[in-house]
This record gives sequence, C-alpha cells and structure tokens, in this order.
Amino acid sequence: MTIKTLTISAVTALALTATGAFAAGDAGHIEDVDFSFEGPFGAFDQNQLQRGLQVYTEVCAGCHGLQYVPIRTLADEGGPHLPEDQVRAYAAQNFEVFDAELDDFRPAKETDNFPANTAAGAPDLSLMAKARAGFHGPYGTGINQFVKGMGGAEYIAAILTGYTGEEKTEAGVTLYENTAFPGGWISMAPPLDDGLVEFADGHANDTHHLAEDVSAFLMWTAEPKMMARKQAGLTGVIFLVLLSVLLYLTNKRIWKPIKYASKG
Ligand code: HEC
Repeated sequence: MTIKTLTISAVTALALTATGAFAAGDAGHIEDVDFSFEGPFGAFDQNQLQRGLQVYTEVCAGCHGLQYVPIRTLADEGGPHLPEDQVRAYAAQNFEVFDAELDDFRPAKETDNFPANTAAGAPDLSLMAKARAGFHGPYGTGINQFVKGMGGAEYIAAILTGYTGEEKTEAGVTLYENTAFPGGWISMAPPLDDGLVEFADGHANDTHHLAEDVSAFLMWTAEPKMMARKQAGLTGVIFLVLLSVLLYLTNKRIWKPIKYASKG
C-alpha cells in the first residue's frame, strides 16, 4: 500500500469511529452532556460537586453506600474543596459508623470513609462512574473518549432521567422502565423529582440539573485525582514538544556542513 492509501483508510476509520459510536447492542440510550471536566483542559466545577454531594447525601445515601471514599477528601483541592471544619461537621451530622473498639455505632469522623449501605440491595456508587461506560465505540482509537470522556457520568445522568413512567411486577419485584438501563427495566424506583433538593444558593433544581450534579459528584468519587492527572499529562506533552523542537534544530545543525559539502 502506498502512503496515500494508508492515510485515506486511516482517516476513514477515524470518521467511522466518530459517527458510529452509538450502534452497539441493546445498551440503553445515553445522551452526551457537556460536563466541565471533559477534554484535555477540563476541570471539576467545585460548586457542582458540592451540590452533587448534597443530592447524594439527601437522596441516594438512603440506599447506596460510598464505602471506598474517605470523607476527608471532601476538603481536597480539585474536588469539592470544602473547608475542613465543614467536612468535620458534615461527617458527624450525616453518618454513623460502627466502631469495633467501642463495639457500638458512633457519629462519623472525617477520618472515616463514607459508610457502605447494602440494605436495599443497591450497588455501591464509589466507582460506578468508571465501572459503567456510556460510550462504547469501535475499539482502539479512543477518539470519542478523548473528546467526550468515557461517558460514565452521562450513563448515571441518563439512568436518573431515563424513566418512562411504565412499571411492572415480576416475581414480586417492581421494575421501572428506563431507556438508559441495559435491558430496559430497572428495580430502582425513580429517585429524583423536580425540586426534591433545595440548594442554599437557589441553584436550579429540576430533575435534569439534580441528575447532572450528582453524576458529576460521582465522577469525582470514582476519579478524585483527575485534575492532577490531566495537569501531569499536559506538562508531559509540552515537554515532549519542546524536546522535539530542540532535537530537530540540533539535527539540522549537525548535518549542516555535510549538506553544504555535497552541494559544493
Ligand atoms: C430506594 C432506594 C434507592 C435510592 C434512593 C437510589 N437508588 Fe440507585 N439503585 C437502587 C437499586 C435497588 C439499584 C439496583 C437496580 C437494578 O440493578 O435493577 C440501584 C441501581 C443504581 C445504579 C446502577 C445502575 C447499573 O448500571 O447497575 C445507579 C448508577 C444508581 N442506582 C444511582 C443512584 C443515584 C445517583 C441515586 C440518588 C439520586 C440513587 N441511585 C438513589 C436503589 C436506590
């Protein structure tokens, strides 16, 4: 194959990847959301993470645990970045943990993890945004993921807003029709409603906003070091570009006398 045909087939493959990403199987329908943390320069929106934490605490924590997330990380820069005294108060007010030394429950401290919660048979949400990819593209190139992210946050937002209102009972379990859930029927009752959570700053709280806020928060719990990772990546790229320029110039200089010699 000539270089030209190779180039043409590579470009065609990339174009197919970019457009054909939603064609896979009976996976549910996932809408892309423009989250602030996507793309090579993306960053978590601190206020959104704080709102998402509130939604999780007031709604989702009733059934879902976050057992792999240390409460103290709520103070981390690049995350919700709450003041440390607020984190301490938050832990004590909202959660109880079992203390083996006391052989009893006590209010949570910032040094504890969020508690697990298995009572309702609901999966732990710590890593959910990474466990579920919203965008399954043809394999290998990763162009879609580079531009839009993996779609884990989109998947969660789509589940929360994908209820059709239909329900059925199967073997004593109530199932709710959901356009995003693989298979179309989920056993989680619609957890959100317009105005269900009120924010201190009066931020929009219709179902869609609540869903996006809590999904962004769960992206953070699943990948708390995303900002640091992107920064390191960017530094690496800049460094490599500089190195390439220097090597190119050095190469030019080294071969200069020889080039001139052959011309003369
Ligand atoms: C009344 C209990 C309850 C509440 C409240 C609740 N969930 Fe669930 N959730 C469940 C159960 C049960 C499942 C398992 C559903 C299944 O597999 O059919 C589930 C599953 C999920 C899943 C996993 C879907 C999958 O791909 O397996 C996600 C994501 C999720 N919930 C997010 C949330 C979020 C975010 C909130 C808060 C806005 C929330 N849930 C509130 C009970 C609940």
